[in-house]
Amino acid sequence: MVSAIGGDTARGDRLKRARDYEERFSGSIVSGERPCVHLPARIGWMNDPNGFSYYRGRYHLFYQYYPFETKWGSMHWGHAVSDDLLHWDYLPVALAPDKPYDDGAGCFSGSALALPDGRHMLMYTGVAAAGRKPDGTLAMRQTQCLAFGDGIDYEKYEGNPVIDEALLPEGMSTEHFRDPKVWIEGDGTFRCVVAGLDESGFGQILLFKSEDGLHWDFGCVFARNDMQIGTMWECPDTFELDGVQVLLVSPQNMLPEGDEFISGNGTLCLLGHRDGETGEFVAESRQAIDYGLDFYATQTMLSPDGRRIMIAWMQNWDSIAMGGEQSWFGQMTLPRELSVRDGRLYQQPVRELEKARRNRVAYGDVDLEGALSLEGVSGRVIDLLLTVRSSDESEPYREFSIWFAQDERFHTSLSFWPAERMLKLNRKHSGLRRAIVYHRTCAVPDFDGTLDLRIVLDRCSVEIFVDGGERVLTMMIPTDHSADRITFFSDGRAVLDVEKYDIETDSVQRRWGKRKEEQCPKSC
Ligand code: FRU
Repeated sequence: MVSAIGGDTARGDRLKRARDYEERFSGSIVSGERPCVHLPARIGWMNDPNGFSYYRGRYHLFYQYYPFETKWGSMHWGHAVSDDLLHWDYLPVALAPDKPYDDGAGCFSGSALALPDGRHMLMYTGVAAAGRKPDGTLAMRQTQCLAFGDGIDYEKYEGNPVIDEALLPEGMSTEHFRDPKVWIEGDGTFRCVVAGLDESGFGQILLFKSEDGLHWDFGCVFARNDMQIGTMWECPDTFELDGVQVLLVSPQNMLPEGDEFISGNGTLCLLGHRDGETGEFVAESRQAIDYGLDFYATQTMLSPDGRRIMIAWMQNWDSIAMGGEQSWFGQMTLPRELSVRDGRLYQQPVRELEKARRNRVAYGDVDLEGALSLEGVSGRVIDLLLTVRSSDESEPYREFSIWFAQDERFHTSLSFWPAERMLKLNRKHSGLRRAIVYHRTCAVPDFDGTLDLRIVLDRCSVEIFVDGGERVLTMMIPTDHSADRITFFSDGRAVLDVEKYDIETDSVQRRWGKRKEEQCPKSC
């Protein structure tokens, strides 16, 4: 993931160059190819969400960004703002790799705070080149840095880096030390957690503390990967929610564990408490955050009305090969409201999505045996609510499926087997042309006879919230947006309730560029 940018471009010009570039080229992207209520890269490449915060009356979301190509490159921070977490306006690139401590591989992931003095503070990982390793490969040095700004322009702090190897416990890697998540405690002092890697190649989450946000001390090893889930734990985030301490991380190199985790880059939620004396995190239970295929690098924020809201990159390093033809790649998930109930993390789309619903179509007690499509139940930008139950409990249905993003040739399916309490999301027939993982199964152990689904489609993605958000499956769909049919199937007799809404798209078209009819011919 390491490249140098800009040839001879003087460091000082890199922000301007990136700003000029996105200004010049992003306007030609046709809004019809964009998702409607998910934030995509303005142009070029996007990965992790960064600096998710509320500042001066608006939500700010930054992201790992390489504007010049649709592949990962030296990292910038892209920037967007929103009033409702669904409709985003782009602002100019906020950070470019233009200092000796960050111009190796760029400005890696981090977080943001609205400071009591009115400034917006960004805390990010600077990645500098650090010579060559004995095997000839490039070595990198990762340190934690600050930038302060007004919501549009940001100045890097002259005392950067503020956390470097001098504060690392012995034996920790200086090359894998990243993704600070910063917060202010009740007494006004600062804390941050940062991902580190120990000598044996396993992740540790390190806690640092500061009186003023500028001068930092090591606090403690907040959590260790001693449960051996993957190797490095990227993008840590921790907070208290519903009386429980939550730790979210994105482990690399995971191994499958039943249907809970699959190989590769995944996500992990640990629920527990903080030790009263040491402040260390004590895990009591664990779960995947998402059971789909395209979900990574979560980050949360506290909204002004007290909601803990999580967003993630709606991609995964293992599935980026699915690529695309456009001049942008990568988008965020829907922001999701979190809660903890009965020892599990629950997720729901932010309630703002309900305000964007239009054109309600509803059917109650629909008898289903075999295949069925329902008048008005179709679309690729929709919020679809379903409940499925057996019509006769003594003779339960054997399998229920819904096909969506469907045309004569393609479809994506979600199937449920009540006897096995098993869901399967499958994009095998979605038009995928690369040999990447295309299906995933997910257990529904608490199934009580009624399956409750909320399916949000936004052109090229699907997010499925099962049983009130107890489990969520997120996946990208490459199928042409004109494939908008929906078909239900049941093997055995089932009964369905269906409620479908279109998601309002008008304001999106206005914000994100030209409508199809305004599009220049390819040659212009
Ligand atoms: C996670 C990640 C982070 C890093 C960033 C680099 O996807 O690898 O750990 O800061 O991406 O773009």
